[in-house]
Amino acid sequence: MKDIKNTILQKFREVYGEGEAHAFFAPGRVNLIGEHTDYNGGHVFPCALTIGTYAVARKRNDRKLRFFSMNFEHLGIITSSLDDLKPCREAGWTNYPKGIFWALGQRGYEINEGIDLLLFGNIPNGSGLSSSASVEVVTGYILSELFGLGISNQDLALIGQFSENKFNGVNCGIMDQFAIAMGKKDHAIFLDTADLSYEYAPVQLDGAKIVIACSNKKRGLGDSKYNERREECETALAEIQKEMPIQTLGDLTEEQFEQVKSAIKDDVRRKRAKHAVYENQRTIKAVKALQENNIELFGQLMNASHVSLRDDYEVTGKELDTLVEQAWKVDGVIGSRMTGAGFGGCTVSIVKDEAVDAFIEQVGKAYKDKIGYAADFYVVEIGSGPCHL
Ligand code: GLA
Repeated sequence: MKDIKNTILQKFREVYGEGEAHAFFAPGRVNLIGEHTDYNGGHVFPCALTIGTYAVARKRNDRKLRFFSMNFEHLGIITSSLDDLKPCREAGWTNYPKGIFWALGQRGYEINEGIDLLLFGNIPNGSGLSSSASVEVVTGYILSELFGLGISNQDLALIGQFSENKFNGVNCGIMDQFAIAMGKKDHAIFLDTADLSYEYAPVQLDGAKIVIACSNKKRGLGDSKYNERREECETALAEIQKEMPIQTLGDLTEEQFEQVKSAIKDDVRRKRAKHAVYENQRTIKAVKALQENNIELFGQLMNASHVSLRDDYEVTGKELDTLVEQAWKVDGVIGSRMTGAGFGGCTVSIVKDEAVDAFIEQVGKAYKDKIGYAADFYVVEIGSGPCHL
C-alpha cells in the first residue's frame, strides 16, 4: 500500500502540480452468497477486498471539478463544475464521482468548492467486483473528510446507492456500497437488507482460499436485464400481497412460498420469486454453517445458489456456467458460484490451498477451449472499508 501511495501522490503532482494533497482508499467487494436478494428485502453476505480504488484529492478555491484516472490516462484531465452536476455520456467514468457531489447536495450538504481528484483502481475492469461502488464510496469518504461533513460510513453507502440509482440510472440494491463502506478485515457482513441490521462474521478458511475467476465477458444488456429482474420480483410480490400481508419476498420461508406461489400468475415470474425466497433462506443457512465451522455445507449452499441463479433467475450465461461447472469438477473445490449481478462478471470459489494451482490451470484451460478467450484468476483477501492513507 505504501508503494502505491507514493506512486499516486507523485502522479497527482505531475498531473495537477505541487501542493498539499491527501491519499485515500476504498475496497472492491465480493459477495459470498445471497444474490439478487438485496432489492427483495433479503439477506446478503458480502465482504470487502484488499483490492479497490486508490485516490488522491485536494480542495480547490473555485467551483471547478477536475478528474484524472490512471486507468484511463489517455482521457487526460476531465473538467466539470459544481454548477454542472448532470449525468452525461461524454463524462464517462466521472459520472460516478459527479453523482456523489450531486447526491450530497440532494441530502442538504453544502459544498462550495471543487476538488482535483486522481484515481487509480486495481479492481479488474468490468469484473463485477463493484469498481463503480468503490469509486462512489471513496468519493463520499473524501468529501466528508475534506469538507468536515462527518458522514458515517453507513450513510456513505446510502448516498452511494442513491447516486447510482438516481444519477447513473442503475436501480441497484444496497449490497455493494454497504459491503465497501462497512468492510472489516477477515470478516464478511451478514446484512439484512430489510432494515439494514448487520453482523460481522469471521471468515477463517483454515486451509482454503477465496478465488475469483473473471469471465472477461463484456457486459452489454446487463443493466437493462437487471432492472427487468427487479420488476419481475416487484410484480410477483404484488400478486402474493393480494393473498398474504407480507412486505417483501424476504419475509417468506420456503414452505410459505410453496403455499402461496399459485398467486403468481406467470411461470417465469414464479421462478424469479422462488429464487429470491430460497436464496434468502440459503444465505441464512450458509452463515449459520460458517459460524458452526461447517465449511462443506457452506460450499454446497454456494453451489445450490449458482443452480438457482442459472435455472430460476436466469442471470448466468454460458461463460459463468462454464467457469462454475468446471470448478465443480476440480478436487479440493469446496464451493463455486457466480457472484454479483451476473450476465458476465465473475465467479467466487472456495478452494483448498493445495488445489488452487490445479484449479486455475484446469478451469482456465477448459474455459479457453470452450469460450475462445481466457479467464483471469485472483486469489483474494478480505480487507477493510475506506480509509485515509
Ligand atoms: C449488483 C447490484 C447489487 C445486487 C447484485 C446482485 O451487484 O449492484 O445491489 O443486487 O447485483 O446480488
